[in-house]
Amino acid sequence: MEFGRSFRIELFGASHGPEVGVVVSGVPAGTPVDVAALQHDLDRRRAMGRRLASRRQEPDELLIDRGVHGGLADGGPIRMHVANVDVRRGPYERLKGRPRPGHADYPALVRYGPGVDLSGGGIFSGRMTVGIVAAGGLAKTLLAARGIGIAAFTRSIGRVALRGPVPLPLAELRRRRDAHEVGVPDRERASEMERAIAAARRSGDSLGGVIECRAEGLPVGVGEPFFDPLESELAHLLFAVPAVKGVEFGDGFAVARATGRTNNDAFYWDPAGRVATRTNHAGGILGGLSTGMPLVLRVAVKPTPSVPRPQETVDLITREGATVVVTGRHDPCIVPRAVVVVEAATAVVLADLMMRGGFLP
Ligand SMILES: Cc1cc2nc3c(=O)[nH]c(=O)nc-3n(C[C@H](O)[C@H](O)[C@H](O)COP(=O)(O)O)c2cc1C
Repeated sequence: MEFGRSFRIELFGASHGPEVGVVVSGVPAGTPVDVAALQHDLDRRRAMGRRLASRRQEPDELLIDRGVHGGLADGGPIRMHVANVDVRRGPYERLKGRPRPGHADYPALVRYGPGVDLSGGGIFSGRMTVGIVAAGGLAKTLLAARGIGIAAFTRSIGRVALRGPVPLPLAELRRRRDAHEVGVPDRERASEMERAIAAARRSGDSLGGVIECRAEGLPVGVGEPFFDPLESELAHLLFAVPAVKGVEFGDGFAVARATGRTNNDAFYWDPAGRVATRTNHAGGILGGLSTGMPLVLRVAVKPTPSVPRPQETVDLITREGATVVVTGRHDPCIVPRAVVVVEAATAVVLADLMMRGGFLP
């Protein structure tokens, strides 16, 4: 379970194992490691303390046991992990042989056999994203030192959506987003989204939504032609995030309805003497390389597959039809907790491609 060439991450652990975490290689010696900032990001992903999330009580206290000394990276692999303390295998043991719809159970049982550990989703669980978030924190430090900032936010939940562009400076965007548990930088939409999630939970259902992420300050030319362009590498890691079912850049699928004249972004010299574009339909990417305009991507997150209602499935042991009732503790909507994951995945990819292209040491 590895990703990256120069800034490399390797995830380990499983949802109901002793721990989950990541080993990050490629962080230059002397890079400051701000444990409080990393912990802050892990807290943004955590369910504990949220009103509208899973009731699993995981404190997710970050432990770094290799690669950092006196607050600085030593140049070797950095190992970071959190303990799994609130583990209840019971609900999953009762499911044996009856795959839960919308989960990885069925293909995982066929591929790995009945011995595969699917408690809490095993290695397919959203809990594995702890490692992506911790690695993303290190990547953000490297990028910030080059003047690059990243912020993701909730654009829609169910049918409640933030319309139009969000032209806020990144710091203000983060401030407004963090004022609401759902991660949307708008008070009215936040309460509508909270109501929608609460209603879904009450009716035994779940909701999905869209997360948008913006990165600013990228130099021109980040991305590796031909097979590792910026879009492919970002999509590669973003699609690894459980429940992500779509990724688009700039205007994304809407370009199919545009024309060449409306879709092209015209160039001009900005007041600082840099080349900029009047519009940003391309989302800051042309030919798989960054253009220097803000990178804009959106991720579609499916509704949480575990819903507390009987669902049709099959019994792989008796070879009969069956009904499954998924118990355990689940998020009625994954989106609010996945915002920081999308931000971290974006940071990891940018750090890796910046190193590969010689933009970072
Ligand atoms: C942060 C996060 C939290 C998640 N929480 C849950 C959850 O509480 N219950 C659930 O059924 N799925 C949850 N998921 C999604 C499942 O892990 C995922 O849908 C499942 O493993 C199948 O993979 P796929 O949707 O990518 O095909 C979560 C995903 C993420 C990223």
